[in-house]
Amino acid sequence: MTERQSTADDGVTLFVNAAQTVTCAGPARARRGGEMQDAGVQVGVGVCVQGDRIVEVADDAALRRRFPNAAEIDCDGGVLAPGFVDSHTHTVFGRARYEEHELRATGVPYLEIARRGGGIHASVRDLRTRSDDDLFARAVPRLQALAAGGVTTVEIKSGYGLTVHDELRTLRVIGRLAAAGPLNIVPTCLGAHEVPLEYRERPDGRAAWIDCLTNELYPAVAAERLARFADVFCEPGVFTVPETRRLLSAARHHGMELKLHADELHDGGAAALAAEMGATSADHLAAISLEGIAALAASSTVATLLPATMLFLGTGRQAPARAMIEAGAAIAVATDLNPGTSPLQSFPLVLTLAVSQLRLSASEAWIAATVNGAAALGLAGTTGQLREGFRADIAVHATDDFRALPYWFGERLCRMAWAGGRACHPSR
Ligand code: NIG
Ligand code: FE
Repeated sequence: MTERQSTADDGVTLFVNAAQTVTCAGPARARRGGEMQDAGVQVGVGVCVQGDRIVEVADDAALRRRFPNAAEIDCDGGVLAPGFVDSHTHTVFGRARYEEHELRATGVPYLEIARRGGGIHASVRDLRTRSDDDLFARAVPRLQALAAGGVTTVEIKSGYGLTVHDELRTLRVIGRLAAAGPLNIVPTCLGAHEVPLEYRERPDGRAAWIDCLTNELYPAVAAERLARFADVFCEPGVFTVPETRRLLSAARHHGMELKLHADELHDGGAAALAAEMGATSADHLAAISLEGIAALAASSTVATLLPATMLFLGTGRQAPARAMIEAGAAIAVATDLNPGTSPLQSFPLVLTLAVSQLRLSASEAWIAATVNGAAALGLAGTTGQLREGFRADIAVHATDDFRALPYWFGERLCRMAWAGGRACHPSR
């Protein structure tokens, strides 16, 4: 494989000589139900990039005739594809939580660990002691690891600060990561990740924390334009449906679009709430009810499934993805990269779990990881397809069959990746 990788800003670069090209081309919106079956796989097709955009997708020979002086990137008989969209991560955190992994293995459930002051609270205590530079420096290699798996867009949530000061600090670190590039970073305010322990200890604590989020944090986030989305951990034992409705309404009032950690471990009606509120995505959904499935299928809310989380928690359970697709819902998949429930920095493993655990086909898994991931971030108009006018978010994988990515699990097949026309893997 030749490594003439950088695409000069005003230059033209052709990606040619691929065995297969996964275009994912089609409508610039989430694909639902049976539409997820078509990943637009083509043979003999290359991509022409100028600056940060794709200008043409056509046969190699046609591209060479049209752009005789273009630089070329030789895909060397590999798979040419859109970069993956990791639409749900908590990439900014401090230390690992090894102790909880073992505790769960002895039978202590995730929410019980949280009740004892561990879980999210442990990461909150830890983050509050760290400097911005430390948080930034820890996040960079995590993003590099994601890029090495072919990821070019990453959503990152705050949520381990849980004071106005520490949430804003986290979001500013996310802003620094975005400015540093080259990955396309989408920031989400997850101030409603938990009720902080210092509030839990007060009799009026829950209401006071919700007031703090709606009256102080959200306006401050909006004033600094620090987050595109607001998210809430809506789960029995964390935030109730009425509390979540209030939080999401306030976030929307402050200009943020909505996401939800919904029905992760127990069904609490959160999926239906996400649909009712017009959330861009409802995430997790391992415990979703039949009513929840029907509500999502009838809405434009993308159902983002996080199969690595259920695997790592050892619950033996997964979201009912087939039932959701058959009902007509749009499914995305993501890593949920976080120190508690999914310390996963390898996106291709999510594809494997999508097929082996969620029972998606390889084509459905690819659509869930590209177009539908983009739709889960409100980016379906620009991201997730190899198509004229779309962002030049491109990965080349060292295999001649797109089904190899879910199949050879644990392998590192991604050879090169570009985000917005800038090389992001291998990193320099
Ligand atoms: O998506 N469910 C809530 N939030 C994270 C876990 C956070 C943590 O345990 O640190 C999740 O699984
Ligand atoms: Fe999460």
